[in-house]
Amino acid sequence: MELLRTKDELQSWVAHRSNRSRALVPTMGALHQGHASLIDAAVKLVGSGDVLTTIFVNPKQFGPNEDLASYPRRLEADLRLCEKHGSTAVFAPGADHMYEGNSTVSIHESDLSRRWCGASRPGHFDGVCTVVAKLFLLARPNTALFGEKDFQQLAVIQRLTRDLDFPVEIVGCPTVREADGLAMSSRNTYLSEEERAAAPILHQTLRNVANDIYRGNFPSPKAAREAIIERISSETLARIDYVDVVDSDSLEPLDSFDNHLPRLLAAVFFGNIRLIDNVGVPAGIR
Ligand code: PAF
Repeated sequence: MELLRTKDELQSWVAHRSNRSRALVPTMGALHQGHASLIDAAVKLVGSGDVLTTIFVNPKQFGPNEDLASYPRRLEADLRLCEKHGSTAVFAPGADHMYEGNSTVSIHESDLSRRWCGASRPGHFDGVCTVVAKLFLLARPNTALFGEKDFQQLAVIQRLTRDLDFPVEIVGCPTVREADGLAMSSRNTYLSEEERAAAPILHQTLRNVANDIYRGNFPSPKAAREAIIERISSETLARIDYVDVVDSDSLEPLDSFDNHLPRLLAAVFFGNIRLIDNVGVPAGIR
């Protein structure tokens, strides 16, 4: 496995392997089994082609009061995981290498980014779109894989790819969970013991309400949303940032279940740690 530390190294690596298909797995490091599953899926997808994993804690997607400085960084362990799971190369640029000091251009997606994480974290998706576009231009992948845990991010990246004509196929991969259902996230390591014990309520609630929607037990998306809020609020350590029942494709909040495939989205604080999760309702609501 090759380690590429600069944009020049990446571009010359890409130039020397122009006849091979390439799958990109963009990450911010602190890799866990969720990331490993993306690399595994990429390896399967490209066959004899290359899998390029990128590790970069992107400052442009963190707000001024967010956890950029304390975001976990463990390059050595990350490289071991990438090698074990079959990455051909890792691009891990230094902290100030991706952007020029006076860089002033960023990419703004103005529809899907408006609500939920976009509203709670102003500028977040501009940072995501900008770095992902740069990675697409530098690495020129055929395919790029992203986790469904960041469901809104996946939709925004699909729109970015469509609207800017990037010749990249975007593949969404299922969320990987701990045994108690908590979605794997680099931020889980920040949770105190009590917060960690409380956190599975997020997934349990979304899953149970999704099953109840499927069985026809909620008359409306509003009733389902209220049930999610009530159940999560029963956990004293949980503080809801947002909860919504949306259409899986457009991400528009739903007034009715008719002709929609609903997706339940939520972000919840446990102490200072903000966790996100989402669950789809199976097709064919009764
Ligand atoms: O999902 C992430 O880890 C990041 O948002 C991404 C896509 C690597 C961009 O920095």
